[in-house]
Amino acid sequence: MKILITGSAGFIGFHLSKFFLNKGYNVIGIDFLNSKSKKIQINRNKILKKSKTYKFLNLDLSKKNICKKKISNINYVFHLAAQPGVRKSMTHVNQCIKSNIISFNNILEFLRYNNIKNLYYASSSSVYGELKKGFNEKYSADNLNSNYALSKQLNEKTANLYYREYGINSIGLRFFSIYGPYGREDMAYYRFCLDILKNKKIFLNGNGNIKRSFTYIDDAISIIYRLFNNFKTKKKFNEVFNVGIDENYKISELINIISKNYTSKFKVLKKPKVKADNKLTLNDSKKTQKIISFKPKINLNNGMKSFLIWFKDYYKIND
Ligand SMILES: NC(=O)c1ccc[n+]([C@@H]2O[C@H](COP(=O)([O-])OP(=O)(O)OC[C@H]3O[C@@H](n4cnc5c(N)ncnc54)[C@H](O)[C@@H]3O)[C@@H](O)[C@H]2O)c1
Repeated sequence: MKILITGSAGFIGFHLSKFFLNKGYNVIGIDFLNSKSKKIQINRNKILKKSKTYKFLNLDLSKKNICKKKISNINYVFHLAAQPGVRKSMTHVNQCIKSNIISFNNILEFLRYNNIKNLYYASSSSVYGELKKGFNEKYSADNLNSNYALSKQLNEKTANLYYREYGINSIGLRFFSIYGPYGREDMAYYRFCLDILKNKKIFLNGNGNIKRSFTYIDDAISIIYRLFNNFKTKKKFNEVFNVGIDENYKISELINIISKNYTSKFKVLKKPKVKADNKLTLNDSKKTQKIISFKPKINLNNGMKSFLIWFKDYYKIND
């Protein structure tokens, strides 16, 4: 069984590739390895390349020639490549359009050209906009706060169009703040730890009151795999699913956990809330649970402890 995973040198793509390789699948990974965090991308890719059943292609998915690239015998595509930062999508608009919108359309054209029928792709909790409760999949907000959220909403609509027009099945994965080892350096939990390591102040936007359904990577991978197993025998599908934990945590709680399990020797500099950041996310796993009978169980405290064990080892920090 051959699987194509885009964004395989990225955080979630790396973990998903590793997971499928361990299960005995052949994985083709695509990434263009050109983010600001290039070093960790290369390190993730090095780990994947140790497996004989992993093949890596360094390609920019926003280039037109992707649409007519022939790769034979692929059964499933997981499209995770994107420019993921909500804030960055407001300062690097072009990059967001290229990596999130054009690349998405190119991947769908690639599926069409190669006669591949099944796509799993990354959407985001950001499509819910500024919501307080009711994060269920029937909903998608009208007034969004970022180009990033818009791009993910458009992806969901485009997937629906290709399903109706060309019979391409798809599952959109609305991820809720996924975190863990080999994570993303731009996300708060990782950025805080890196700033502490460099003896810099932590920048805290919005007084620490912003809440997120922080979801540990292992739980996210379990959900993706269970959804995959459920849908791989189905003939026709076009759905979106939340991927997250049904709890949320204030950023101030995250900082407390870091101070208890890493170090308390750091200063916090409070800054106003960034407009593009929604005030809260709160996952609702009812729809996902109905299909896969699985609920994330790794709370922020335990997940961050595992992350910090990895972080200290990766950056060779002595306790
Ligand atoms: N991590 C989260 O909490 C989270 C939350 C919501 C949605 N998502 C979505 O999940 C997916 C994976 O996120 P992640 O956290 O692993 O991000 P990531 O930045 O670590 O990984 C994305 C990868 O895509 C690659 N990429 C970007 N544009 C490309 C292009 N044009 N051609 C080839 N490769 C390209 C990058 O180089 C990177 O390695 C993204 O689509 C993201 O928007 C993530």
